[in-house]
Amino acid sequence: MDNEKQKKEILKTLEFLQQQKQTLTSWSVTWLQGRLLSELVSLYSPKKILELGTSVGFSTLWMAYSMSDSSSLTTIEIDSKRYSSSKEMFLRLSLDDRINSLEGDFFKISDSMKQHAPYDFVFIDALQPRYLEVIEFLRSSNFVSSNCVFVCDNINSHSYMNAFVEKISSQATFCELLDIDSGFLVFSFN
Ligand SMILES: C[S@@+](CC[C@H](N)C(=O)[O-])C[C@H]1O[C@@H](n2cnc3c(N)ncnc32)[C@H](O)[C@@H]1O
Repeated sequence: MDNEKQKKEILKTLEFLQQQKQTLTSWSVTWLQGRLLSELVSLYSPKKILELGTSVGFSTLWMAYSMSDSSSLTTIEIDSKRYSSSKEMFLRLSLDDRINSLEGDFFKISDSMKQHAPYDFVFIDALQPRYLEVIEFLRSSNFVSSNCVFVCDNINSHSYMNAFVEKISSQATFCELLDIDSGFLVFSFN
């Protein structure tokens, strides 16, 4: 499938998933957040993207929409049904050569995650109360490059996230809260 046709197909699928949101238990980012995520991928032009929490692949598709042909995206989902449906969708959109879709608990599938590491852009959208632990795990396992850009979702959804933001702000070289819908925190330690 040529690039332009593929982009059109991705957008069509995103529109379809958006319409299905009420019936799907997907906990996906909003349309606006998806567009923002896509812009962030355009801005940083990462070579290796990691997503924790694929769900039905909505945010994955937004990142795939703007990633370059030479980039790859690894995405991990623990729920078999959501994993299978997203994998099928990536295959249908001929994205399977650039999207490595993995099933499992990302704390437990280090070998598979390592195959595509080090990642230079990480979108974290699972296990929100354990974000600090997740980031520490990625850094101490050398799964991320030193200049990796992290994007975390659901920053505005609970007051306990304030402590997370404070901690990251004190350690990161840059840290921005993008206050759109559930809120993204974008930061890097380089
Ligand atoms: C908020 S949803 C992700 C939404 C998706 N990023 C989107 O915007 O379209 C979180 C997903 O993370 C998955 N998840 C939770 N814990 C996980 C773990 N330890 N490893 C892999 N996936 C996990 C859940 O099953 C759920 O589908």
